[in-house]
Amino acid sequence: MSPATVERAFAQLVAEGLIEPRPGHGTFVRERTDGTEPGADFSWQSNALGAARADGREIGALLTLPPPGSLILSTGYLPPDLQASGLLANALRQAAGRPELWDRLPIDGFDPLRAWFAREVARGTVYSPHDVIICGGGQAAIATTFRALVPPGHPILVEMPTYTGAISAARAAGLALVPVGMDEEGVRPELLRDAFQRTGARAFYTQPTFSNPAGAVLSAERRAAVLDIAAEARAFVIEDDWACDLDLTGTAPAPLAAGDRHGHVVYLRSLAKSAAPGLRVAAIMARGAASARLKSGRSSDDFFVSGPLQAAALAVVTAPGWKRHLNAVRAALIERRDTMVGALRTDLHDRATFRVPGGGMHLWLRLPDHVPEGEIAAEMDRQGVVVSPGRAWFPADPDGSFLRLTFAGSPAVIREGVGRLGAAIARRM
Ligand SMILES: Cc1ncc(COP(=O)(O)O)c(C=O)c1O
Repeated sequence: MSPATVERAFAQLVAEGLIEPRPGHGTFVRERTDGTEPGADFSWQSNALGAARADGREIGALLTLPPPGSLILSTGYLPPDLQASGLLANALRQAAGRPELWDRLPIDGFDPLRAWFAREVARGTVYSPHDVIICGGGQAAIATTFRALVPPGHPILVEMPTYTGAISAARAAGLALVPVGMDEEGVRPELLRDAFQRTGARAFYTQPTFSNPAGAVLSAERRAAVLDIAAEARAFVIEDDWACDLDLTGTAPAPLAAGDRHGHVVYLRSLAKSAAPGLRVAAIMARGAASARLKSGRSSDDFFVSGPLQAAALAVVTAPGWKRHLNAVRAALIERRDTMVGALRTDLHDRATFRVPGGGMHLWLRLPDHVPEGEIAAEMDRQGVVVSPGRAWFPADPDGSFLRLTFAGSPAVIREGVGRLGAAIARRM
């Protein structure tokens, strides 16, 4: 090698931090550290930070990528074989080549995409494109909405159980979580009224259709009651319609937003669930002063979602292939759900109870009270099976032992995973 090549190689190794020149002594291999200088003292940070408001462990556990080869029976997203990756790749390639999309975009989002989201709710009769704010995924939509509409320290009503990411966003915003009881028909109106009256809350976060984790669908009668109760309480209903593309029975009721005349409902809709987790595009829809409050909240969070991503999202959901994709996803989910239900009936007999979900991708399994969910989840973890213990989904003390199982994975994974779960539960009976 020429001296110039050696010099360049040394310069590169120095730049990468792998070697260090010590003038007058030579060049030495740098001691590997985790980036912390020896003797560095971070203990002062505990005083500066104070007590933690939110514990990110539960949501973190849900997002952690399991080791390769794991049998995944809990995840929030479609597995790779069901994702719209072909449509996304084409759309993003085209969008990336349009320089105007790399320029600044309006904070509220790319206008044609806002118009598409508005048209999706009751054929455009509720929201106008101006009522739509595009943000980077459903989780961001929840966090922004909580922060913008509910002052720190104030109560927010949530179903019991509810989405663990909403619990974590509420805690991070310093809100007081108030659990409200539900059953298979969704939130119980008399308990909702009582919670509003008792706490003076001005917001209720709900998933009226295929709730995650319980799979409940709010009945038509209760939909009307919830809107009346919110009107009486002069409160917002934050409707997270996360599974609106994943209706497996074709019978999902219209969203609460469709029956809202006076701007009580703030409607959240994400594309990540039905396209792919990496499509970080969602919409918050709201009318009246709430819309302005949300827009200003959003602009202080981050300015706007990357233009090519927004344009690609629009191209995907308006492509002829999108409907075919959704049909294929729903057909696969029906087959996989039925596989899980069959396997649970064969391998667990009547040792655990559940309702067959009509939409979404999760099944809520109630274990016998004397079988601790934590122990089962830990044993499953040791056996390479990923399940989600019920605790993460409760804003207060759980009323039983539960696991959330996802039926989006392949039938072979479902059969093997449920078989191992059945054996672990049988050993404790
Ligand atoms: C009920 C519900 N809402 C919102 C989200 C957030 O999804 P994303 O941020 O990927 O759109 C999730 C994800 O698991 C969810 O289950």
